[in-house]
Amino acid sequence: LNYNVERQRSHILEVLFNGLRRLEYRGYDSSGIAIDASSSSPVADSSTLHPLVFRQEGNIESLVKSVYQEVGAMDLNMEESLSVHAGIAHTRWATHGEPAPRNSHPQGSGPGNDFLVVHNGIITNHKVLKETLLRHGFTFESETDTEVIPKLVKYIFDQSSEGEGGQAATFSQVVIEVLRHLEGAYALIFKSKHYPNELVACKRGSPLILGVKEFAEDDDGGFSSSNGNPKELFLSSDESALVEHTKRVLRLQDDELVHLKDGRVSILKFSSDRGRSGGVLRRSTSVQSALSVLEMEVEQINKGTYKHYMQKEIHEQPESLNTTMRGRLIRGGSSNGKNVLLGGLKDHLRTIRRSRRILFIGCGTSYNAALAARPILEELSGIPVTMEIASDLLDRKGPIYREDTAVFVSQSGETADTLNALEYALDNGALCVGITNAVGSAIARKTHCGVHINAGCEIGVASTKAYTSQIVVMAMLALAIGGNTISNQSRREAIIDGLFDLPNKVREVLKLNQEMRDLASQLVAEQSLLMFGRGYNYATALEGALKVKEVALMHTEGILAGEMKHGPLALVDENLPIIVIATHDSCFSKQQSVIQQLHARKGRLIVMCSRGGAASVCPGGASRVIEVPQVEDCLQPVINIVPLQLLAYHLTVLRGYNVDQPRNLAKSVTTE
Ligand code: G6P
Repeated sequence: LNYNVERQRSHILEVLFNGLRRLEYRGYDSSGIAIDASSSSPVADSSTLHPLVFRQEGNIESLVKSVYQEVGAMDLNMEESLSVHAGIAHTRWATHGEPAPRNSHPQGSGPGNDFLVVHNGIITNHKVLKETLLRHGFTFESETDTEVIPKLVKYIFDQSSEGEGGQAATFSQVVIEVLRHLEGAYALIFKSKHYPNELVACKRGSPLILGVKEFAEDDDGGFSSSNGNPKELFLSSDESALVEHTKRVLRLQDDELVHLKDGRVSILKFSSDRGRSGGVLRRSTSVQSALSVLEMEVEQINKGTYKHYMQKEIHEQPESLNTTMRGRLIRGGSSNGKNVLLGGLKDHLRTIRRSRRILFIGCGTSYNAALAARPILEELSGIPVTMEIASDLLDRKGPIYREDTAVFVSQSGETADTLNALEYALDNGALCVGITNAVGSAIARKTHCGVHINAGCEIGVASTKAYTSQIVVMAMLALAIGGNTISNQSRREAIIDGLFDLPNKVREVLKLNQEMRDLASQLVAEQSLLMFGRGYNYATALEGALKVKEVALMHTEGILAGEMKHGPLALVDENLPIIVIATHDSCFSKQQSVIQQLHARKGRLIVMCSRGGAASVCPGGASRVIEVPQVEDCLQPVINIVPLQLLAYHLTVLRGYNVDQPRNLAKSVTTE
């Protein structure tokens, strides 16, 4: 929303398009935009404004092209007609209804598009609302759950304007009435020709951030345009769309509504209870005092010299690991020398140590990272550690107790399944710990305490640097919970030394890049790939397989080597490539025997082993050996995943698929 007359103009389109480009990394299949035009008057004035809506399947650049083509063909005076502006835009990842223009957002209220809405989330009672609206004569053109919202707002607006000639309802009052009927999760932005140059946005469950550029505060805690400062206001579900404009942001809380009007920002608290207090608005916090500063830098969301974000993020792991550990590891100085400090946990460590069990809860790569850290946490803490995939925990309504510590692991901090599992654990009284890469995210806010991963912004949909940083955070968590005892002192010190040296070792393993490209060219035409791991590296097998599956679109399975003879062995022949992870640790001899059995069945083996260990690990020979630097066993998963990340990356490039936005996948899945 741009109130600076000098810079308004068609600038609004570029702001919106750039915003969409910044969101591309999250995954999408269609996009759309709504701006205002004034066809009759050369100067935009509210009475002559009408909305222009463009929606398209496919990539953003094709939307950009067609918008400029159509706007040009309309013979509008772009400079003038797109002056003062409230524009909205959206990338959609299909949940209800196939990717198609009619299912893309903005969704409208019907002919004339009096009300337009963009939505991130899911409206769970949309069927009931649709039936009611159909009875009131509305017709629907999409299969989305979202479409009920603009129709409902129009219905409510029409009803309120039909009332006896009292004062017209404000935009936020109309929206709050709508919210009373919505169930589910949402971040919503409303735009209307009845409220020109205003926007109302609100959130429950899904993230929403306000960005403020060059503002001065007026007396009553809001912002005013009266001082004439140039001002631009931004709303986004993702900070990466804001950082190039401003670093001053306000992360909206659940049940907060923001109303942008005439350069003023009002933040209101709403209640969507249908009871007596339902819909009551009260002024929330002063905007100025609630603004925080984004830690992200624009460079972080650029590719630099790399071709793809995934490639950049794989290669920046030595630095991201350093940032993760910075200020948290102590070596030398005090009498007992080495220690770990996790400030976000310090008031809760005693409670965690007394818990009856620790649960790790996450999805996808974050789950795998927790699985990699589980053995060291069990070893150092002596507390049973159970693993939960968030959706499965919720499906089973698995028991959680007050004596439990539940650790929620999530790169984005916004994954709906993990967030729902967090609500469930909070309801059951567990101590909830968050491990996320997103300061201010829902999981970071709602947990009792936690540790930020500090891996820097991760753009590639396939998580790489966040994975290794998550393992490191959880290894530090294990050290913090385990405490400093005589019996574990040498082990602790070895781990801390190992952590200090880990970025160097990752730098070494990254030198396998060319070797992994060669391996990828050998495997490029394969249909399937198996990865065997056990102990610390069972997680490596799962995560390596997930990487290849999600970006290279090759069927790949991570297999617990101990389960080989209970099924997977049947798949083994001379054609199917199998990667066996057999670096030195307490499971090494068992892995040797797995390799022998696979060899005896003429398996096509690719063995990952500790540097210099090729001869002992596969005496019968393997078709290929990947030698990696040896580190402390519990940190070895950080090293071992790197060649597999590189393999997945090169396979994807060679197979010609989209590296950073794999088919059908989203970076952050904010619906169940
Ligand atoms: C999506 C992404 C995965 C990610 C998972 C969990 O499925 O595509 O890469 O691992 O969500 O995300 P989180 O942000 O909670 O770690």
